[in-house]
Amino acid sequence: MSSSYAILCKIFKKDKFVVSELIAQLIGVGHQYKDGPEIFKGVTFNIEKGSFHFLTGPSGSGKSSLLKILYLGLKPVWGTLNLFGEDTLKMKPTLLPLIRQKIGVVFQEFKLLDHLKVVDNVSLPLRVRGLETRRGYKHAQELLDWVGLGDCFEKYPPSLSGGQKQRVAIARAIITRPQLLLADEPTGNMDDEMAMKLLHLFEELNKTGTAILIATHNQRLLEKLPYPQFTIKEGTIVKLITKKVR
Ligand SMILES: Nc1ncnc2c1ncn2[C@@H]1O[C@H](COP(=O)(O)OP(=O)(O)O)[C@@H](O)[C@H]1O
Ligand SMILES: [Mg+2]
Repeated sequence: MSSSYAILCKIFKKDKFVVSELIAQLIGVGHQYKDGPEIFKGVTFNIEKGSFHFLTGPSGSGKSSLLKILYLGLKPVWGTLNLFGEDTLKMKPTLLPLIRQKIGVVFQEFKLLDHLKVVDNVSLPLRVRGLETRRGYKHAQELLDWVGLGDCFEKYPPSLSGGQKQRVAIARAIITRPQLLLADEPTGNMDDEMAMKLLHLFEELNKTGTAILIATHNQRLLEKLPYPQFTIKEGTIVKLITKKVR
């Protein structure tokens, strides 16, 4: 067991948290932007507890839009989206933040706050939930150790490299222990070596039970990692099971 994985197990297995068997269920989901193209016609697939998938498809096929639908940033025009057993299009609006709390998101462009120290960026999701600063910092330090940035606690994002910023963004996305982690082209601006390191972090996180869905069009990474792919093809999803190549 790698030392960083041991750190993660320690952090994540300290508290018991209940995970539903089916995290997301999309049934005939369709979407069309106002004045824009119809991007999905009838997307049906499930994301199960603890699963690891890539979301693939050419640029413009709707990967970012589908992730946005999954983190409730975009309402599909047709179909049903169940998240953690709740029908998201029919549920009471008060449930929305509770569902969102169970989903972590990592963006290609990091979306870090440059005027806040790394530790404040990472602990922000806990602070907005009312956790006291000291405890938020403790969790942030644990996760920064895990991503290999334990010594960047006091730094500001502009002084970090792209790979370092993305690792900070991953730490921030998982500090609330989400049951589903969505990542939109998280390795988009990185060389293959850094991209593999990042994907290794996602793999470690997945081993603790977090379901992972990563949108990417990096063919080289897809060839190296044997996880199943949901591919967007002509507005629907095709599931590809890849052979183990390692
Ligand atoms: N906010 C928006 N308004 C109108 N059209 C959009 C919007 N966002 C994306 N689109 C269009 O929807 C399609 C899918 O985009 P996107 O989800 O970003 O695909 P991908 O992430 O696979 O590149 C594209 O044709 C894009 O131009
Ligand atoms: Mg995109």
